[in-house]
Amino acid sequence: MAKIVVIGSCNIDVTVESDRFAHPGETLFGKKLNLYPGGKGANQAVAAARLGAEVTMVGCIGDDMYGEMMLKTLKENNIDCSCLEILPGENTGTAHITVAEDDNTIYVIKAANDKVEPKHVDAAIEKIKAADLVMLQHEIPFATIHYAIAKCAELNIPVLLNPAPVAPVPAEVLEKVNYLTPNEHEAAILFAGKSTEEILLANQDKVIMTLGSKGVAYGSNDKVVNVPAFKVKPLDTTGAGDTFNGAFAVARANGMELAEAIRFGNAAAALSVQRKGAQGGMPYLKEVQDMLK
Ligand code: RIB
Repeated sequence: MAKIVVIGSCNIDVTVESDRFAHPGETLFGKKLNLYPGGKGANQAVAAARLGAEVTMVGCIGDDMYGEMMLKTLKENNIDCSCLEILPGENTGTAHITVAEDDNTIYVIKAANDKVEPKHVDAAIEKIKAADLVMLQHEIPFATIHYAIAKCAELNIPVLLNPAPVAPVPAEVLEKVNYLTPNEHEAAILFAGKSTEEILLANQDKVIMTLGSKGVAYGSNDKVVNVPAFKVKPLDTTGAGDTFNGAFAVARANGMELAEAIRFGNAAAALSVQRKGAQGGMPYLKEVQDMLK
């Protein structure tokens, strides 16, 4: 069984469903308010766990109602929470999401996620040493992300960095990362002034660029390869990228070839957008296998 450590964020997603997005200065009636477990870290952990990986979550939550909700969800998904610290007097991270027009907008309040420190990485070091792959995103402090990546490089543990929300990835960090998984907008900011082809050919087998309904592109053997997306009607795209990341990570940790692992990730993401909430539609292994048939 693939062993994955996720060092990242836990949020509760306060989600408004609406027919359309409001313009600046406009007041609209939303259709419904939902509270869902989310956070790019927790989402990727749940996606990987549902697909059969043994997952450890490293991070921080508050000692509030949202923290309890998060802990319950992670445990229900068989995720090892022994490296998740509950911080007294702190709030759990939240994301304020509008779902409309087959898309979403998200504002994240980091709260406890901002307290994930290098000491949390050190406390999880035995889990990291035993991992097939470590996953990180950009919702915890950069000092911690960079510390974790340096530790993994020292230990020769493969790392996947999902650079969302987008922020610069220093060259010495990029060098130590095995997979960087930006979407096309994030890639355009990270590699400003470069075309998609230039980015992918300069970072072969490393930058795995998600393109939404256009699938996923990467560079390999001096060529750009596109792995098409599965065509589905989306109900809620929140967490589709996280599902892709979690599924891709499991597939690679299980030894699948790059293109095959991307196709596996695409199938999982396509299934995930057909139900509400970031984690609501995250599929189990059998569902992905059936889709791939
Ligand atoms: O990627 C989707 C996630 O981004 C949401 O679950 C939200 O919590 C934000 O972190």
